[in-house]
Amino acid sequence: MPADFTLAEADKNSAQTLAAIHEECFPNYWNSEAFTDFFSVENTFALVAEIVTRDSCLVPCEEKKNTRVTSHEPLGTLPVGMIVYRIAGGQADILTLAVRPSWRRHGIADALLNEAMRHCEKLGAASLFLDVEDGNQAAIALYERRGFTHLRRRKLYYRQKDGSYTDALVMTRKFA
Ligand SMILES: CC(C)(COP(=O)(O)OP(=O)(O)OC[C@H]1O[C@@H](n2cnc3c(N)ncnc32)[C@H](O)[C@@H]1OP(=O)(O)O)[C@@H](O)C(=O)NCCC(=O)NCCS
Repeated sequence: MPADFTLAEADKNSAQTLAAIHEECFPNYWNSEAFTDFFSVENTFALVAEIVTRDSCLVPCEEKKNTRVTSHEPLGTLPVGMIVYRIAGGQADILTLAVRPSWRRHGIADALLNEAMRHCEKLGAASLFLDVEDGNQAAIALYERRGFTHLRRRKLYYRQKDGSYTDALVMTRKFA
């Protein structure tokens, strides 16, 4: 079933939320101080994807007819995905993008990426860059689908928990 989600702008006040999502999605995760630091740099932006939670229980309704209906009123939101990006000198960079495991394949990352791209283009960025771990097929497929191409490889860029290193692929996309 498609997830019912919305996108909200985030800033340093959401550092803990961003860190909690990051921790669930990456073995070498960034803590809330790292996210707070990101926002100390000008033109750093973030979006959080929030699932709208609804009341699934029956509530009394139309008492005269003694009937009950399901309430579909939104009750709250649950943060499940995020993107952090920065614009400098006409170039934009995606710093991180992640969706909690149980909410994947609902189009949430694609929506976050699309909205970030729209914002970067609106602010005058000529191109967008990102690093992705070689072999991260989910992320690479997502970026290729949005028109990113491979630019170069950073050898032994990511340190793994076991002490080994893996390459990063630099991907880029120009705006028209
Ligand atoms: C990569 C990631 C952000 C994708 O999030 P998501 O919300 O599941 O992605 P979406 O549902 O928006 O997928 C959009 C498209 O990306 C591609 N894609 C996403 N996950 C995929 C997978 N596991 N395998 C292959 N293609 C995948 C597909 O083309 C998909 O479209 P489709 O579902 O219509 O086939 C998520 O898997 C994640 O958080 N991974 C861990 C963190 C990470 O690697 N972040 C990227 C760092 S550069």
